[in-house]
Amino acid sequence: MNNQLTIIVGSQWGDEGKGKITDFFASQVDYVVRFQGGNNAGHTVVAKNETYKLHLIPSGVLYSHVTSLIGNGTVIDPKVLIEEIERLKGRGIDLNLKISERAHVIMPYHIAMDEALSGHQGVLGAGSTKRGIAPVCADKSYRHGIRVGDLLEPEFFKEKLEKAYNFNVNILRKVFEVPFEKSMEEIYQEFCEYGQKLKSFIADTELELFEAYKKGNKILFEGAQGMSLDLDHGMYPHTTSTNNIAGHISVGAGVGFNTSARIIGVVKAYVSRVGNSPFLTELLSAEGDALREKGNEYGTTTGRPRRVGWLDLVQVRQSVRCSGLTDIAITKLDILAGMKEIKVCVAYEIDGELITEMPSSVAKMRRARPLYKTLAGWEEMSKEETKKYVLNGYQSLPHQVKKYIEFIEKETACPVSIISLGPGREETIVR
Ligand code: IMP
Repeated sequence: MNNQLTIIVGSQWGDEGKGKITDFFASQVDYVVRFQGGNNAGHTVVAKNETYKLHLIPSGVLYSHVTSLIGNGTVIDPKVLIEEIERLKGRGIDLNLKISERAHVIMPYHIAMDEALSGHQGVLGAGSTKRGIAPVCADKSYRHGIRVGDLLEPEFFKEKLEKAYNFNVNILRKVFEVPFEKSMEEIYQEFCEYGQKLKSFIADTELELFEAYKKGNKILFEGAQGMSLDLDHGMYPHTTSTNNIAGHISVGAGVGFNTSARIIGVVKAYVSRVGNSPFLTELLSAEGDALREKGNEYGTTTGRPRRVGWLDLVQVRQSVRCSGLTDIAITKLDILAGMKEIKVCVAYEIDGELITEMPSSVAKMRRARPLYKTLAGWEEMSKEETKKYVLNGYQSLPHQVKKYIEFIEKETACPVSIISLGPGREETIVR
């Protein structure tokens, strides 16, 4: 890995396996940085037969030489973060963690507001994880958000909380007509305590990262969510409320990088979607149920069953373009094994027109029909066979797998250089 910067982003609807790919590369870097999203994300990492489910803490945390940094572009629920820290400590992980003073804090009224908003938005909603993401981001834009650093400044925190609490609680009670029981004083005390518990991790991470960058340290950015969930470029309004394309790293980490980066888009060999939106390649049949079970497609954060469907290359093409991908990492090829034929969506038909690039309009997506290319499937792979493929490299893979990969490369004009055949670190081929 020669680039000083590596960026890993999701190229679909999230849950592509970014945690595994981040963990795979984390051994070679000095910093792993989260630059957007919050605990709506769920990253699963399997290391030495142990499974770790992470929501806020970067997936590099399992390496003691790596500094894990939660950047200003993230939104933080301190209660969840403290629990995650305690869980990892309890499993013997030596945490080297830094949290940006500038990251915004998810407050209890944000979570209540998310619940209220979900009902209000109906079919135009995204099917939120209800972790308070949209309301905390709205408060950031209203400029009455609470930032992590505020929790260490009791007087200033009180001054800000008064404004933000009254604003949110008034909307909850008067507009949505829902109860909100917690008093401002209770929240104030609770969050001052969280501040004290997190104090040793809170820092000017932007400055630290800048200095590390100047020294030539290697930095890996771990994206959360995925292309179609990006606030500006995703399938708005069925998106999340932060940007997740690669270009967001400078905003979300506070350093103006002027070096070329390796930008890896993680693509699952099929698509999963948790939440509400048009999903053109969705499999609503028994075939879909079987894929969900085999791929264990249940939300890491909410446990919700994920909708599943065929790979959509219009979506991946958009990720190549918007994030400037230099590489694709393909995951879960083992889950597709055993199928006779595999479909891949290469374009849409909308109002009689052939569309190869993602439209901006959800109205158009509601009328779109997927156009498929059918490819030959491949046989199941035993653990032994997988080991051999990894040992002998890309060329040793079954002919049909290589055809599938090369088809993706041709359609997206991006090399597939990382191939994941299972959840473990050792089940990965780098070309
Ligand atoms: P929110 O970010 O919780 O508001 O959810 C907005 C949309 O993004 C919903 O459709 C969620 O299901 C989806 N979403 C948010 N985070 C993730 C993730 O990490 N993986 C998959 N979907 C996500």
